[in-house]
Amino acid sequence: MAKPRANFVCQNCGAVSNRWQGKCEACGEWNSFTEENAASGIGAQAGRHARKGRVFALEGLAGESRSAPRIISGIGELDRVTGGGFVPGSVILIGGEPGIGKSTLLIQACATLADRGHRVCYISGEEAVAQVRLRAERLGLAKSNVELAAETSVEDIATTLLEGKRPSLVVIDSIQTMWTDAVDSTPGTVTQVRGAAQSLIRYAKSTGATVILVGHVTKDGQIAGPRVVEHMVDAVVSFEGDGGHHFRILRAVKNRFGPTDEIGVFEMTGAGLREVTNPSALFLAGRDASAPGTAVFAGMEGTRPVLVEIQALVAPTALGTPRRAVVGWDPSRLSMVIAVLEAHAGLRLGQHDVYLNVAGGLRISEPAADLAAAAALVSSLTGAQLSVDSVYFGELGLSGSVRPVSHSPARLKEAAKLGFHAAVAPAAARESSDATISVNACNHISALVADIAAIGAETRRTKERPRPTAVAPR
Ligand code: TYD
Ligand code: MG
Repeated sequence: MAKPRANFVCQNCGAVSNRWQGKCEACGEWNSFTEENAASGIGAQAGRHARKGRVFALEGLAGESRSAPRIISGIGELDRVTGGGFVPGSVILIGGEPGIGKSTLLIQACATLADRGHRVCYISGEEAVAQVRLRAERLGLAKSNVELAAETSVEDIATTLLEGKRPSLVVIDSIQTMWTDAVDSTPGTVTQVRGAAQSLIRYAKSTGATVILVGHVTKDGQIAGPRVVEHMVDAVVSFEGDGGHHFRILRAVKNRFGPTDEIGVFEMTGAGLREVTNPSALFLAGRDASAPGTAVFAGMEGTRPVLVEIQALVAPTALGTPRRAVVGWDPSRLSMVIAVLEAHAGLRLGQHDVYLNVAGGLRISEPAADLAAAAALVSSLTGAQLSVDSVYFGELGLSGSVRPVSHSPARLKEAAKLGFHAAVAPAAARESSDATISVNACNHISALVADIAAIGAETRRTKERPRPTAVAPR
């Protein structure tokens, strides 16, 4: 018999090579190749036990279908992200940096489900049972009937769980620590993670239990190792936030049973994660509206409007190439907004450093934030403070035009609810304005810049010392 051929597998993305490489050509990661036995992969034995397939029935699309019943977790923000609760038999991968609060969130979800009479199992491969208990005690959940175990063998876990009543929810914390007998690679390798995930998925599908897999994330946001698991599971959810802020955002990245643009907002407190039902109030709290360079953006996260403050700092540069730094927004969109301001509104930013920050640690991906970002930039550049009770939204075109965006009524309603009286927005949004909020239509970037420059001129007239402005005469 031929000697089994060795394969080298990238532990970051799962790429396979027949020789060792310092850098993975597929994902660019360095030193990620590990030798794994080719004959140990899933399906590697297939040729040896080849059998004749059996015939199965094919069915039409128009058959009977049942809408998936859901298990409501009782944590509203979590249910929102999963699309209305857990689907029995589904597998959810939850990714996030270490220490972000994945274990905390899941033990809280387990406890609320257990209190509603479901059988819930929490299997930790990272912590001892006593540690999990200690955390539950801190969270005031020690009385909940959650079944705990510290185990890492998926065969043992599946066999144990098949005894007794079928659990509604099984949490595996984390998938990187699990291993299966079916694969003879070392635990933690891509092949093991994939094999363990496959066994757990099979367990979920065959019993109807919902399985949540915890996955760790690398510094650049990829779900490390288990990236190969992402396409096997029904939903991928990421738990984000940064150390400097108390709030955490749960975001659906993939969901076979619900929308992927919903977010859940939580606040990390001394007593665990608390749901934030009104994120706008949280993101706008502590806002210094009297300073130039800030604009409130009326954004949408899924079906929910969220108001956030966009802060800009434009300052003369000491470097040959000015700096452009962005936190919470797309750097290439910032470059585009700057280019449009220069080309169509006569601003000169070539000698200025530009910093843009979305306050509160939220990450915005909507193009509708263009107008708010532009307003904040112009405000900082001219030193003109924007109106305290206005919100901004609209997408910028390369021609300098302000294009209409979706969900204008919801954005305006949320702004009115939080006490804003005006919105600077594309003219199309006027149709949805009412007595509580007016829309100052802005159809071209030059109109926005002229308005802000006028405020700046007014401010300077009333102040003793004028501030320099870099708005070039048109
Ligand atoms: P944890 O859930 O262990 O994170 P993960 O499983 O994602 O690695 O959360 C750990 C962090 O959360 C830790 O730094 C302390 C903080 N924390 C609180 O602030 N309050 C709490 O009640 C708990 C349990 C944790
Ligand atoms: Mg953990």
